[in-house]
Amino acid sequence: MSVPFFDLTRQYEAIGDDIDGAVADVLTSQQCIGGPHVKALEERLAERVGCAHAVGVSSGTDALLVSLMALDIGPGDEVITTPFTFFSPVGSILRLGARPVFVDIRPDTFNLDAEALREAITSDTRAIVPVHLFGHPCDMTAIMEVAESKDIAIVEDMAQAIDARHAGRPVGSFGDTGCVSFFPTKNLGAAGDGGMVFCDDDGLARRIRRLCRHGAQPKYHHLEAGGNFRLDAIQAAILGVKLEHLQQWNERRREHAEFYHRVFADRESIVTPRVRSENQSVFNQYTVRVEGRDAVQAGLKKRNIGSNIYYPEPLHTQPALNEERGHGAFPEAERACREVLSLPIFPELSPDERRRVCDAVLEVTSR
Ligand SMILES: Cc1ncc(COP(=O)(O)O)c(C=O)c1O
Repeated sequence: MSVPFFDLTRQYEAIGDDIDGAVADVLTSQQCIGGPHVKALEERLAERVGCAHAVGVSSGTDALLVSLMALDIGPGDEVITTPFTFFSPVGSILRLGARPVFVDIRPDTFNLDAEALREAITSDTRAIVPVHLFGHPCDMTAIMEVAESKDIAIVEDMAQAIDARHAGRPVGSFGDTGCVSFFPTKNLGAAGDGGMVFCDDDGLARRIRRLCRHGAQPKYHHLEAGGNFRLDAIQAAILGVKLEHLQQWNERRREHAEFYHRVFADRESIVTPRVRSENQSVFNQYTVRVEGRDAVQAGLKKRNIGSNIYYPEPLHTQPALNEERGHGAFPEAERACREVLSLPIFPELSPDERRRVCDAVLEVTSR
């Protein structure tokens, strides 16, 4: 019997009637752009994240892009981020003509090393994009201290981390903006692309909203060039239904993580993810480091156990950077790319499936 890495059909089976009802509501009204579902979702999530404003956008990537645009990031500016994540922050920085500057990750959390951050700051540093990778919060206390002392903006990439907390406070509420993704496999996932920007500052929120509508204010009067970065009403309606279940889904993810953690604790060839005591993770991924990773993954595949590699290549060596920053520059990120393996952790994973994942992992890893 196989165990999938992820299976969204189970979620739809459980709440499909409510989702269908919400979609039908949008279709009946034909208010497909903006409207009550988008507004309600923005209000509910702003409150949940603890920010005055939330702006629904077309994807997590566009949340990052429009945040950086609203902060006037452009040519000549440096933006610090992590070399170990999805390409999205780096792509957004590059699109604005700015330069991504990398700071290596901490080996225990996979997140940007706040201690090393200070050394990467120059007179051209305008923003930092910390990424709460795999649902684990970054050390926002330390990052905010550095940013505030140097008057540098923070754009939190919380694509994988809605509802995660650092020092009792939701991620996304620390920086100038917080950027979430509703990509279907995220903890709160749409039936397509979507995202949201959170922020407290009234002026910044107004500008973000305007940039999402081609910089127009009022309609057809364009103060600047923006884009079409709006969240669809159908997606907002679906997300509104799913939001009711998010807390319970995140609890299920944490239960799976605890189970894995207990089973793998004595296995020296496996390093389980560490959640620091001041943090609460939402485990978008359960990512271990393992000796002989590729052979382990092949072994799991042979036993029909799903797994994935997030991420196989660091960002500083990507050809898109068009600049040689070469292998060896960020050793911890490079080592992570060689060693990481993500195991099934979706909420609907059954106890029996979870046990089978563990048995297979123990079978294919050395002691
Ligand atoms: C860490 C991270 N940042 C940004 C993104 C971009 O989000 P989206 O796919 O919604 O554009 C993703 C997800 O795909 C992500 O995992």
